[in-house]
Amino acid sequence: MKVTVVGAGAVGATCADNIARKELCNELVLLDIKEGFAEGKAQDMMQTAALLGFDTKITGSTNDYSKTAGSDVVVITSGLPRKPGMTREELIGTNAGIVKGVCENILKYSPNAIIIVISNPMDTMTYLALTATGLPKNRIIGMGGTLDSSRFKYQLSQHLNCSPADLNALVVGGHGDTTMIPLIRYATWNSAPVTNFLSTEQQQQIVNDTMVGGATLTKLIGTSAWYAPGAAGAALVESIVRDEKKLFTCCVSLEGEYGQNDICLGVPVTIGKNGWEKIIDLKLNAEEQAAFNKSADAVRSMNDVLKTL
Ligand code: 2OP
Repeated sequence: MKVTVVGAGAVGATCADNIARKELCNELVLLDIKEGFAEGKAQDMMQTAALLGFDTKITGSTNDYSKTAGSDVVVITSGLPRKPGMTREELIGTNAGIVKGVCENILKYSPNAIIIVISNPMDTMTYLALTATGLPKNRIIGMGGTLDSSRFKYQLSQHLNCSPADLNALVVGGHGDTTMIPLIRYATWNSAPVTNFLSTEQQQQIVNDTMVGGATLTKLIGTSAWYAPGAAGAALVESIVRDEKKLFTCCVSLEGEYGQNDICLGVPVTIGKNGWEKIIDLKLNAEEQAAFNKSADAVRSMNDVLKTL
């Protein structure tokens, strides 16, 4: 099994680190445009192998895509991260060109790869990857909802004083501060609805804090977060390479599901060896569906910007 992570910045390197620690593949390539950067990070990670006891072989490459040849899964993290006060959407102009170029280069050497998109604005970059490559829809997966759902569980755990691992919770819709929809009605603490234990005010607070989760960290750290985005990317790689068929919220191409067409948006899907395999219909209520439609409208107008670039 071979995995490539494109972009050796904080998110890409963290993703690669998680992949190696879990030995999700025997070959792992880290690629970056900055001279020597990916090689250096790959060597640094390889120097943890003896300490951590993993056998994944990590190599770095400065923009030489021939080194990525034959990858089964490719994670794209390339592009600018956001700075404090910036929305993910403001990155579209720069990141669209980068992501398109990366997709073309990857497919030259790994025509059968499954592609996981992390670059922002993630919903539009996923749509771009799908439309620019013409790959079967199941092979293009946007990571956003996987991260947002984990952040949602974190926020819930803080109020419930419980383990995030004991929670089930989903964030659907777009991966934007105003487009994501944390579905608290569906969230459970080991099968018990969390709404049993939280006041309406607490529930609202949790939803709000989840939605601005990324922006809060950007303000605190000074740049975009990386531990959770990297771990979310690696969790998807794991479900693919081990054919786990785990359920994650991912940004995928909708063809009538959830009432939407010609768009990539976050919905619950199973992830296995074929990429995303099945969309799960949550049967949203009228209010949730209205929020989903609004989120789709916002993402669609961002996708329209692609036509002007
Ligand atoms: C975030 O929300 C990187 O978009 C990512 O932190």
